[in-house]
Amino acid sequence: MVGTPQVVNISDLRSLAKRRLPRAVFDYIDGGAEDEVTLRENCRVFDHVTFRPHNAVSTPSCDLRTTVLGTTLELPFLLAPVGSSRLFFPQGEVVAAREAGAAGTAYILSTFSGCRLEDVKAATTGAAWYQLYLAGGREVATQAIRRAQAAGYSALVVTIDTPVAGLRERDVRNGIKELATRNLFTMLPFVGQILMRPNWLAGFLGDGGLMSFPNVVLPGKGPMPYADVGAALEQAVVSWRDLAWIRREWSGRIIVKGVLTNTDARIAIDEGADGVVVSNHGGRQLDGVSSTLRALPEVVEAVNGRIEVLFDGGIRRGSDIIKAICLGARAVLIGRAYAYGLAAAGGPGVARAIEILRTDLVRTLKLLGCPSISSLAPSFIENSRSARLFPN
Ligand SMILES: Cc1cc2nc3c(=O)[nH]c(=O)nc-3n(C[C@H](O)[C@H](O)[C@H](O)COP(=O)(O)O)c2cc1C
Repeated sequence: MVGTPQVVNISDLRSLAKRRLPRAVFDYIDGGAEDEVTLRENCRVFDHVTFRPHNAVSTPSCDLRTTVLGTTLELPFLLAPVGSSRLFFPQGEVVAAREAGAAGTAYILSTFSGCRLEDVKAATTGAAWYQLYLAGGREVATQAIRRAQAAGYSALVVTIDTPVAGLRERDVRNGIKELATRNLFTMLPFVGQILMRPNWLAGFLGDGGLMSFPNVVLPGKGPMPYADVGAALEQAVVSWRDLAWIRREWSGRIIVKGVLTNTDARIAIDEGADGVVVSNHGGRQLDGVSSTLRALPEVVEAVNGRIEVLFDGGIRRGSDIIKAICLGARAVLIGRAYAYGLAAAGGPGVARAIEILRTDLVRTLKLLGCPSISSLAPSFIENSRSARLFPN
């Protein structure tokens, strides 16, 4: 079902996901904030980076391995934290983590996941990182940090671009808030889209219905209910000062996700981060903020090799990954690219997304005359500082 000729690229997985999911769930994955300007820009800007191949060079095999914070990965991309994956497919986070491990790469689990962090770690043979929001407050986050440490997560990813949930207008129109109330009367105007997707509905009900958040355990109340996310984010905003106590609680690596400027990159280093992710949350938070590829050179320059720079946003092809690495990213995170696969077909869909990007990478390296990810250099693309690269 996810093989050729039906599925040739990530966009084909997106189409399958759209067919399987209720509109509210598909748009939750696919959509961005407000006018979706940044969402579109994240993808569009890759079109303006042109390659400079070394032709007449034979590269019989291509080495895709890279090392990120001391861990060797078979691929130069990791699976980004994607909240609520359990809504896309039964046991979604467990399923995605398993496929990441099978492909030799790492999975990053969102705080807002529907599966227990211990179960997700146990499902993968690869590295797992835990993405932290302070939802529920410092005590609740501390419990999650301790659990993640005990379960064997090797890095903590602190997301700093979400002091409030972005306005995703598609979600409002589709009745996400109303559907989360579990009140039949409130839900009624929006349930039609769900009844039209019986396959998805059967899986959803078989998996226990609307998930709660088992890694956000509120004292005396248990797992945080789905409907409480927005309020929880606003009540527990991460600030730079939090990095100090997070570092005391967590003995592994810390990565700050959501850096877009040289100023924030420098502060992250001063606060002891081991890495940063140049990210605008896939255009889901501040609309009108720079596309991430455009922000990458500024951050790479400010970091100046002191810590590792990762990148995400808009990756839909292996050639996008190569462009980001040429511009200084150590590796990239993919978000929607695998989420579409998960939503389209569960584990085989995630595996297909990974395979599409893997074969893209090998083909593109060969066409560039470059034997490995570690040999990529700025010289393989047009000068990143030229105005021609990023026209307005
Ligand atoms: C449906 C969805 C849910 C997300 N949830 C989270 C999250 O819980 N925490 C987080 O740090 N980032 C979250 N992100 C952002 C991703 O980690 C990543 O930054 C983004 O998807 C990259 O852009 P891309 O989707 O174009 O690859 C989410 C993204 C999507 C699409």
